[in-house]
Amino acid sequence: MSKIGVGIIGCGTIADVYMTNITQHYENVELLAVADMFVEKAQQAAEKFNIPKACTVEELLEMPEIKIVLDLTIPAAHYTVNKQILDAGKHCYCEKPLALSFAEAEELVKLAQEKGLMCVSAPDTFLGAGIQQSKALIDGGKIGKPVGFTANMTCPGHELWHPNPAFYYKRGGGPMFDMGPYYMTALVYLLGPIKRISCFTTKGRPVRNILGTMTETEVPTTYSGIMEFVNGAVGTVTMSFDTWKSALPCIEVYGTEGTVSVPDPDSFGGPVRMFDGSKLKSIVEAVTEPHPAKIITMVTNQDKCEEEVAIEFPVNPEHRGNMRGLGVSDMAQALIDGRKSRMSESISLHVVEALNAFEESAKTGTCYEMKSTCEPTEAMGKDWALWEVR
Ligand SMILES: NC(=O)c1ccc[n+]([C@@H]2O[C@H](COP(=O)([O-])OP(=O)(O)OC[C@H]3O[C@@H](n4cnc5c(N)ncnc54)[C@H](O)[C@@H]3O)[C@@H](O)[C@H]2O)c1
Repeated sequence: MSKIGVGIIGCGTIADVYMTNITQHYENVELLAVADMFVEKAQQAAEKFNIPKACTVEELLEMPEIKIVLDLTIPAAHYTVNKQILDAGKHCYCEKPLALSFAEAEELVKLAQEKGLMCVSAPDTFLGAGIQQSKALIDGGKIGKPVGFTANMTCPGHELWHPNPAFYYKRGGGPMFDMGPYYMTALVYLLGPIKRISCFTTKGRPVRNILGTMTETEVPTTYSGIMEFVNGAVGTVTMSFDTWKSALPCIEVYGTEGTVSVPDPDSFGGPVRMFDGSKLKSIVEAVTEPHPAKIITMVTNQDKCEEEVAIEFPVNPEHRGNMRGLGVSDMAQALIDGRKSRMSESISLHVVEALNAFEESAKTGTCYEMKSTCEPTEAMGKDWALWEVR
């Protein structure tokens, strides 16, 4: 089968899983070269994954056989590196977010359009089985019209596990810019474009221990937001690096006929759970005289009616682990098939605007009206079979 030449810039923590998947699991891409600002890191990666070339960023961008470049550098470098990639005439797939500011992201998307190139950002988890199944349920009308939702990411902070965590507490870090892209992408994919956003923020631990150095946090570490979508759905968002323990769900979508519990959008799998409220709704709507005890019993027994939904995607159920690189494989397939990649410039841009909107609203004390829009693609269904995933 045809293979599209790929290069990677940034050989840090997340590069490992991309390199594993691209060299071992996605047959339509071929990893031809890797680069890093520290060339020795690129050399180590090339040795580990048997990649033909380790080089400087400039050398990688000069290779004509490379069509797609993955930017796996830190968020603060994304705008500059993505621009270099586009200027070199390559399609760009960037780790999240596409850029730090809306203006920078807009500029990149405009440049890509002028050059006839694709320029999108992670996450690709929305192409995974869990979000795909949730999308199929919502679009299939299983919960009726979406009315509300909640989206929550709570943890104590990434310094607990990341080998080089300082960037998480600088501009472009914090729970909204780091984890928000997973949640915003999933919500936009499931509910469509956002209309407006309000938010309050705080810093639970303004000075944190980053690998033995007490470091001032430059960004908020807890966000409490409210969003309204163009389709009318409204809901709450919590993003926190200040929470030791919580029982909040990752994402739940509440519809006129039921509820979908969407799995962690930072994962590719399930479980997806659904509560079919249509039976209860028809009983409640038929009530003509007061008999609260019966209704209250039914409502308090709701949990028993929630069911785990069998996941239909992907076709091969084994592919539910950490599939990072799926979006790159989709971009390569788009080039082969002459279509656009499923992660679109408009979603990547809309998400960058949303991340900044939470920040802007908190700073100004006003509600932010979104300027951009996007049109998410449908659930993939049997298109999964198009992927030659080993
Ligand atoms: N670590 C994770 O688990 C994880 C998960 C999902 C997504 N991400 C995203 O992946 C990206 C990278 O994160 P990471 O954890 O791998 O960071 P990292 O600091 O471990 O690695 C970044 C690498 O990029 C290189 N680099 C930085 N600026 C560069 C430049 N201008 N030119 C060339 N190389 C440059 C660094 O030398 C380093 O090797 C971020 O956008 C992050 O949000 C990380």
